Amino acid sequence: MWTSIGRPPVMLVDLRPINPPMALISSPEIAEQISKPTKLFPFSTPKSPTWTHMIPLIGSTSILGREGENWKDLRKRYNPGFSAQHLWSLLPLILEKTEPFCKYLDQFAASGDEFSLETLLSNLTFDVIGAAVIEVDLDAQHIDPSKQTEVIRLFKELVQTYNDDKNNLPWWIVPSTTLRRHRLAKRIDTLVRNMLQRKYAEIKEEAEGNRSRSIVALSLQDTESLTPELLSTTSDQIRSFLFAGHDTNTSMLQWAFYELSRTPRALKAVRDELDEILGPGSDPRTVCTTLAAKGEHLLPRMHYVNAVIKETLRLHPPAGTVRMTGPGTGFTVRASTGEEYCLDGLIMYSCHSIIQRDTAVYGDTADDWVPERWLGEAAKSIPSSAWRPFERGPRNCIGQELANLESRIIIAIVARKYDFTKTGLGEFALDEKRLPTLNDKGQYKVKSELYNTRRMTSKPVDGTMVRVKLAA
Ligand code: HEM
Repeated sequence: MWTSIGRPPVMLVDLRPINPPMALISSPEIAEQISKPTKLFPFSTPKSPTWTHMIPLIGSTSILGREGENWKDLRKRYNPGFSAQHLWSLLPLILEKTEPFCKYLDQFAASGDEFSLETLLSNLTFDVIGAAVIEVDLDAQHIDPSKQTEVIRLFKELVQTYNDDKNNLPWWIVPSTTLRRHRLAKRIDTLVRNMLQRKYAEIKEEAEGNRSRSIVALSLQDTESLTPELLSTTSDQIRSFLFAGHDTNTSMLQWAFYELSRTPRALKAVRDELDEILGPGSDPRTVCTTLAAKGEHLLPRMHYVNAVIKETLRLHPPAGTVRMTGPGTGFTVRASTGEEYCLDGLIMYSCHSIIQRDTAVYGDTADDWVPERWLGEAAKSIPSSAWRPFERGPRNCIGQELANLESRIIIAIVARKYDFTKTGLGEFALDEKRLPTLNDKGQYKVKSELYNTRRMTSKPVDGTMVRVKLAA
């Protein structure tokens, strides 16, 4: 019933001889069978071994790639740090990091210069992750990379090496890139370990009741010593959080601000909601003070802002999941039409960009950005399996609440004060009076469509070049 009309729920893509063939999953119900626990796989279908090209970035013991009891132990250790209750205690740290971001927006508003929203947002999300995960100032918010800390500079360089379509080829096809990745990874690991050792000493000296608030501190506070093994696995998890937490959220926020800028109805709804909840003052400092005092009560009331985030993640999902079972395992999925597919030996790729545009679920507006579909009664008709940007089941995203909290805060601070205008790709088409005009979907007509490219995760192809001005 949920399968898009005319599209098979599973499509085969032959990737041999470089990789095993791939089953491209386009149906919510089959994606659901892959992500849920089964008798055969109590923690859901195993991840595909093709993730190993990411080891330099996230380490060989990363929670993203571990399986079985090893994965369960890690998840148990880090779950409390990502609990809603703990995340509220991070609110002041997150708010503090938005200040340099707004300063840059003010500077660009004054100069009128074009800039990459991706660069500013990625630096901001790095700073938030550094503060939330390990309570260090990563000092990422500089446009000039030479002013950033070494760990951020190198991390960005390392991510850069994955930024083309050859990013996951075997080392013998891309030997010099592989060597460069390993050199960068080694230095980053050393820097992260040094940070961690300093933090560990601080945690051990802290008095009860005055404990460090970071996610890592919470996971380490009951350990007796920082053994070499604990140091090594914790460094892997920090690098995994840095990667998984900054890249995806940056992409989501780029799209959210772009879609808001071209959808006046939605921008007005966001601004009205923020006026009502936060009061009329849109100065970022005032908003931060209000959120620091009462954020826990105010942020959950931002239903339209939440719908903007949900709809952006539906239409422009940054990630996905890739799973695999060995030949002869007997892992079989069933489509709603009754057909069964044995997927053993195939890379199973749950493709969110297809699943979340299923016309059988989202109707004629499946390809349109419509936040209202997530409000009130309308939202009840959408099966939860058809919205999976954070994936579902035991291996879902551990950081989804943090991502949501951070995104709501940033939108609440930025949406009323600034107006963004896209330049280049996705730029508005102007009429003879040089004004943008609406299409029949209530969005400004554009000269060309902005689209995602794959650079590790999916993100706008041009870094989202924009101009900004202070809202009237
Ligand atoms: C909009 C933001 C985000 C999106 C769309 C997103 C999406 C996802 C998806 C699809 C997965 C499953 C990956 C797979 O199966 O291979 C995942 C897992 C994960 N994410 Fe996120 N993520 C986001 C933000 C974050 C943040 C802020 C953090 C942490 C700081 C984070 C940390 C992780 C980790 C550690 C996993 C692995 C969980 C496990 O296997 O137990 N993510 N995320």
